[in-house]
Amino acid sequence: MKIAVVGTGYVGLVAGTCFADTGHSVICVDVDAAKVETLRKGQTPIYEPGLEELLARNIKAERLSFTTDLVSSVHASEVVFIAVGTPQGEDGNADLRVAMHVAGQIADAAKKFTVVVNKSTVPVGTASRMQAEINSRTQVPIEVVSNPEFLKEGAAIDDFLRPDRIVIGATSEKAKAIMGELYAPFVRTESPIYFMDPRSAELTKYAANAMLATRISFMNEVAMLCEKVGADVDAVRKAMGSDKRIGHPFLFPGVGYGGSCFPKDVKALVATARNQGLDFSLLAAVDAVNDRQKRLLGQKAKAHFEAKGELQRFSSIKSYERALHGPTLPR
Ligand SMILES: NC(=O)c1ccc[n+]([C@@H]2O[C@H](COP(=O)([O-])OP(=O)(O)OC[C@H]3O[C@@H](n4cnc5c(N)ncnc54)[C@H](O)[C@@H]3O)[C@@H](O)[C@H]2O)c1
Repeated sequence: MKIAVVGTGYVGLVAGTCFADTGHSVICVDVDAAKVETLRKGQTPIYEPGLEELLARNIKAERLSFTTDLVSSVHASEVVFIAVGTPQGEDGNADLRVAMHVAGQIADAAKKFTVVVNKSTVPVGTASRMQAEINSRTQVPIEVVSNPEFLKEGAAIDDFLRPDRIVIGATSEKAKAIMGELYAPFVRTESPIYFMDPRSAELTKYAANAMLATRISFMNEVAMLCEKVGADVDAVRKAMGSDKRIGHPFLFPGVGYGGSCFPKDVKALVATARNQGLDFSLLAAVDAVNDRQKRLLGQKAKAHFEAKGELQRFSSIKSYERALHGPTLPR
């Protein structure tokens, strides 16, 4: 199949490279010309185990190429993935400006039936908004599909090649068949492909990240209680996690969750609920606990140095010193 992937960040680059490795012909598009040049040489701007090797192999086999030219990439492709950033915008809502802009560009360029696949993490209703925007710009039949990504940075290739599951939100049988064919090589080990409507697919991604974040904040609350009552949180965690209904992953207390996805996705889901007149109070608390947890580290560090009479050394940790007194926290 001929595929274009717009946005060669963590998600786009890994997805494009892995699709090429299963024999598809993939063009990766990015606005960052320097990044495109680097990738053409087979060098990756990110470190992911196995990525450089796959990149070199597929460039050599002429299955994988890089360009800044979106129009010719769309002309050459049956499926176009959107994998651009969806950062936190105002009020916690995801900022969809780049994703919507790219959808418009694809609509203007397409000359034949094209499946436009949203791989970026986008709020419920985005596929429908994109479809309306595309339909307003072209008569060419285009179907917007939601296909959220679940890879983890640091294990991205392995996660993509051997996913726990694939989630595809599509309306027509034609788009479902194309997506199923595309992913068939990744689900040979019987990992399921869940076909659903686009709204459910969009929500699945946020709900999954929110659930994981909830476990982390929950354990941080348990850890705080342990400290007060003289219990050992590590012993509690291990024994809790042994219950098959609970499990061990994401039960580690610590400085709270961070990274490029959890903080913005939790806030975006709270905002989505708010937009619908709902108060997702549990998730708002998860976010608040996470914020407190980061401050707690600074407070503990300060108390530690104070007790040793070395407060001067703590004061040299400028960002945390500022964070302890200011509204924003370092990530
Ligand atoms: N990083 C992760 O671990 C991860 C995991 C799952 C889902 N996601 C989601 O996937 C999406 C992409 O995340 P990422 O980490 O790959 O982002 P990223 O910021 O690493 O990459 C985005 C890329 O898009 C390019 N770009 C920006 N505007 C463009 C345009 N108009 N046309 C073409 N390219 C453009 C940028 O130059 C950049 O290379 C986000 O919605 C994110 O929430 C990320």
